[in-house]
Amino acid sequence: MPFPTTRPRRNRQDAWTRRLVAENRLSVDDLIWPLFIIEGTNTTTEVASMPGVRRVTLDRLAAHVEPAAKLGIPALALFPMTPPERKDAEGTESGNPDNLMCRAASLLKREFPEIGLIGDVALDPYTDHGHDGVLREGRQGVHIHNDDTVAVLVEQSLNQARAGIDVIAPSDMMDGRIGAIRAALDAEGFGHTRIMSYAAKYASAFYGPFRDAVGAGKLGSAPAGLTPPSDKKTYQMDPANSDEALREVAMDLDEGADMVMVKPGMPYLDIVRRVKDRFGVPTFVYQVSGEYAMLAGAIRNGWLDGDRVILETLLGFKRAGANGVLTYFALEAAERLRALG
Ligand code: PBG
Repeated sequence: MPFPTTRPRRNRQDAWTRRLVAENRLSVDDLIWPLFIIEGTNTTTEVASMPGVRRVTLDRLAAHVEPAAKLGIPALALFPMTPPERKDAEGTESGNPDNLMCRAASLLKREFPEIGLIGDVALDPYTDHGHDGVLREGRQGVHIHNDDTVAVLVEQSLNQARAGIDVIAPSDMMDGRIGAIRAALDAEGFGHTRIMSYAAKYASAFYGPFRDAVGAGKLGSAPAGLTPPSDKKTYQMDPANSDEALREVAMDLDEGADMVMVKPGMPYLDIVRRVKDRFGVPTFVYQVSGEYAMLAGAIRNGWLDGDRVILETLLGFKRAGANGVLTYFALEAAERLRALG
């Protein structure tokens, strides 16, 4: 008797059957490209800890984005590097209608009306201490004050919506901010403005290079100022938890989030899967700066094959249930996908 009768390898033997039985696909429609913008003119700077990622001045922004527009990338996520003299303890610059973020948004809306603009809402690019909230002295010492922070985030969100941001993306992890932002947007006639909530955002060491990119604290270091000293663990989630992520997502959906985000990506694929299975809502994942740094560093050294490994990581996110991926590799990935046909 021939053994075995059932042979999974039969379906893998030719490219055409492999294509036919493929369960998941990655396309340019799945990609969100984050951009770092800086003040000044005629300048591009490298992010040292993210080889290949650049910050650009506004006069260079349209040319920088043009290839992404040509490739059909659906959305961009904007991150400003605020000059140190514009930072303060309250993150006041986040509500300035003429801040870097707002000027970038109106420029991009004018030049590329077909591309969606996602605005990160959090205070860390604007505070001199690098926290995502405002500090208050209270019975528990100097702490991040949740509700005072939410008030600033509401102003920041309105400011971004007025400048043309299509999707407000709060990445701060304060309690109740989605409901407060939704109510304020609706009251001002921005009922069409979407909210992508960073619902399950973990206190991760993988954000180190991002803080270098936007100048919010030194690479890998935790922002200071709290007593007892603590990094972002009093607001971002504990990497040990997973049920808690479902609770966070449920609350944000209840408060009006249109889409949710899990962050970081690769070490949290189980969270992506659980969120998608439980809620079935548009679910996104952020392949963060530290993940980028690891891959880009290894690719540059010839230790990993960039032609394959980038798309493999992104397909992994799709397989885990993500509808799309925010990734610093978006442009490269779109180019590779086009080359593959
Ligand atoms: C702002 C914010 C951070 C990131 C995105 N938005 C930093 C942080 O929370 O400390 C990190 C993104 C990345 O590492 O690529 N709150």
